[in-house]
Amino acid sequence: KTVFLKDYAPTPYRAPHTSLMFALHPTRTVVRATTLYEPVGGGPLELAGDGLSLMAAELDGAPLDESAYEATPDRFVLKAPPAEPFALTLVTVVSPDDNTELMGLYRSNGVYCTQCEAEGYRRITYAYDRPDVLSVYDVFVVSDAEGEQVLLSNGNLVDRKVSGGRLTAHWHDPFPKPTYLFALVAGDLGAVTDEFTTMSGRKVELNIYVERGKEPRATYAMDALKRSMVWDETRFGREYDLDVFNIVAVSDFNMGAMENKGLNVFNDRYVLADPDVATDQDYAGIETVIAHEYFHNWTGNRITCRDWFQLCLKEGLTVFRDQEFTSDERSRGVKRIADVRRLRAAQFPEDASPLRHCVRPNRYDEISNLYTSTVYDKGAELIRMIHTMIGEPRFRAGMDDYFARFDGTAATVEDFIGCFSIPDPGAFMRWYEEPGTPRVKVAEAFKDGRYTLELTQVPAEGASVKPIPVRLALLTDTGAIDPAKATVTGGEIGTGHIVLTDRVTVTVNRLNAAPIASVMRGFSAPVTIERAPDEARDLTLIAKDDDPFTVWDAVQRLALSAMQARYDGAAIDETPLAAALGTLAANAGHEPAFRALALILPTRQALIEAIGQNVDPDRVDTAHQGLGASLGEKMRDVLARLHGAPLPPADDVSADAAGQRALRNAAMQLLASAGDTGRAMAQAKNATSMTDRLAALGALAFTNAGEADEALATFAREYDHEPLVLDKYFAMEAMRPDAEALDRVRRLMEHPKFSLKTPNRVRSLIGAFAQNVAAFHRADGSGYRLVAEVAKSLDKSNPQVAARLLTSFSDVRRFDAPRREAAADVLADVLQTATSSDVVDIARRLTAKG
Ligand code: ARG
Ligand code: ZN
Repeated sequence: KTVFLKDYAPTPYRAPHTSLMFALHPTRTVVRATTLYEPVGGGPLELAGDGLSLMAAELDGAPLDESAYEATPDRFVLKAPPAEPFALTLVTVVSPDDNTELMGLYRSNGVYCTQCEAEGYRRITYAYDRPDVLSVYDVFVVSDAEGEQVLLSNGNLVDRKVSGGRLTAHWHDPFPKPTYLFALVAGDLGAVTDEFTTMSGRKVELNIYVERGKEPRATYAMDALKRSMVWDETRFGREYDLDVFNIVAVSDFNMGAMENKGLNVFNDRYVLADPDVATDQDYAGIETVIAHEYFHNWTGNRITCRDWFQLCLKEGLTVFRDQEFTSDERSRGVKRIADVRRLRAAQFPEDASPLRHCVRPNRYDEISNLYTSTVYDKGAELIRMIHTMIGEPRFRAGMDDYFARFDGTAATVEDFIGCFSIPDPGAFMRWYEEPGTPRVKVAEAFKDGRYTLELTQVPAEGASVKPIPVRLALLTDTGAIDPAKATVTGGEIGTGHIVLTDRVTVTVNRLNAAPIASVMRGFSAPVTIERAPDEARDLTLIAKDDDPFTVWDAVQRLALSAMQARYDGAAIDETPLAAALGTLAANAGHEPAFRALALILPTRQALIEAIGQNVDPDRVDTAHQGLGASLGEKMRDVLARLHGAPLPPADDVSADAAGQRALRNAAMQLLASAGDTGRAMAQAKNATSMTDRLAALGALAFTNAGEADEALATFAREYDHEPLVLDKYFAMEAMRPDAEALDRVRRLMEHPKFSLKTPNRVRSLIGAFAQNVAAFHRADGSGYRLVAEVAKSLDKSNPQVAARLLTSFSDVRRFDAPRREAAADVLADVLQTATSSDVVDIARRLTAKG
């Protein structure tokens, strides 16, 4: 059933208070929900359910006659509610152990937990279950005194007591919240405990609950949490508001984590870490996700969304906030590059695919499928553009205004935008309302000492022009040109940027030589830049520009065109690129993490996008590997020196140490590409950190080194008892770019530790396989069939994970006709047999004509 933004209407009843009692049982948990309803408009009270069975219904404490209501698994209607406020009690029974969807109340490794966003609460009890209905909760969690000891819900603990052989915990959350932020956790768990004093002097108890015995692995997450709390106070003036903040790590989780008020629930991969099992990337991921969920307390919880169309209001903004946190804690330049890579790798392709949608969509069939890179990452870019256009002080003032005006409410994107003094808010709103990536054309001319730069906006198909902040510098031998010396026509000039709408011309007179234009510094807008290729210009930018993004981007541009030339069978001279890259990588004036990023080749995906259509995946692989081999060969001496640099201690997980390891490993990877696998072999054996171990295995696996089989098998045996490490093993096997990949994955699906029940494991094997370009896009369609098969069986047990897997099909359109037809057949079959709204929605959009 399609839902439209234009149909929004408030509910006829409010629900100011909710009291829940859970009598926990693995297969028969009884939920007694008493909700106070207050009429606003009147008429029938229509509540949502999802697969529920109703045991009893009461109105103001008295049993309801069956004729007074209608109850099906998916709906409860109270036909003629009282005109005065009333308390409706509904008793439902749910089976956590049979809940394979991992939405609503389920058990993960014996631990009871919940996931309610977006529409999981209706799998627990009947409710409006929409984000604009806010309620104060009292929750009573009841278990056998012998059983679960940790009993958690949102808010503050009021009381915990044993009586009649039962243990009851009473939680009260004073902040009105929508159902999607409700959470409950119960189980036998270990904890790391700490304390935080807020800026106004309030003490907050902090707990991170993990599987018993794994407590030491939660200390980094705790550290990240405390740093997040400090940062939100300093940068945004936001203080934590409850007496306790709890985080629980569970091993079966559909997404990364969830910001439930006062009780965040996490996929354990974003909590557990020590240097033996987690890589530097894992540490960075933990820091980001811990911060992200914590920041939701203000952007998402205190101010929530009016409806799910406004999802980017909390997600885009919170991603922006976590990006800023990482920029302040680690390196701003490196973080920006990492975020642009992610945007280009995931969001740009999505925005050009049949799954494209607006940052604020105006319709959806299944809300779970809108937790996308467009909503999250492009959503964050839109906030960043506002920040760029008005500057930090005015941005902060706008945020203060937003918090002051909308605290305690369910807001819209318009409410948010209205808090900022941007030049033309109506025009800016188009960024939210139109899909597609705009292009900016750059044209330059230099004649008689007069330099002109012309920027032209080319909107995406069907879209209109939008304000695009362009950060620009004109570099000369003697430094950057003073902007006051330039004449700008056609665009608003701001501090350090120009706002482009249709066309902007920048002119500078009386110059001896043409300057080098550094355009879109810091990637100031989510657009693609079209500019005539010019190797000399890019080499100059690499050598002279001081903006980390534009330097990195120039490297990417040159490497990508070299790769594309190889793909076209017309390899160019790669010596200048190798020389520039070698100099950059060896330049101790740059951070190691930045130099490491420069040494990482553009992805196969980037090449596919650049080719555009009728892509031959085998040639993509050959071109990619060929460039790696050539650069590795040409830079051998520099790379060997870099890989020989002293290794920081394994237990130093700081951004600095991570950068040093990343640089050594990027060098090792290129050397392995050039056939020097000896170092990788040695490192695979002797590494003292998971970062170095995995990098070495990757260098062997991704270059099809003969030694890879043996090294990976040893690794798998050694970590058989470590699920998160085993996931890395499965992913690496699935991504090996050799001809065996498909058979290998089929074999690994029979591995005793493979299971379709754990989303992390499915993603690590099948999700990774779908990223293996040559294997997934095999000409015979067998790669497509494998992924579809898994999606079809998950359609019944875990539709969210199934739907996510299917999105890999969205770039089949880049390949040749036989592949497109093979994929179309497979998808038609999925569409015909699927029953979940999640899978049907994706399959339908992927197969839609035109
Ligand atoms: N709000 C969560 C986050 O971004 C994501 C939860 C998504 N859950 C879902 N079932 N789609 O932090
Ligand atoms: Zn979020």
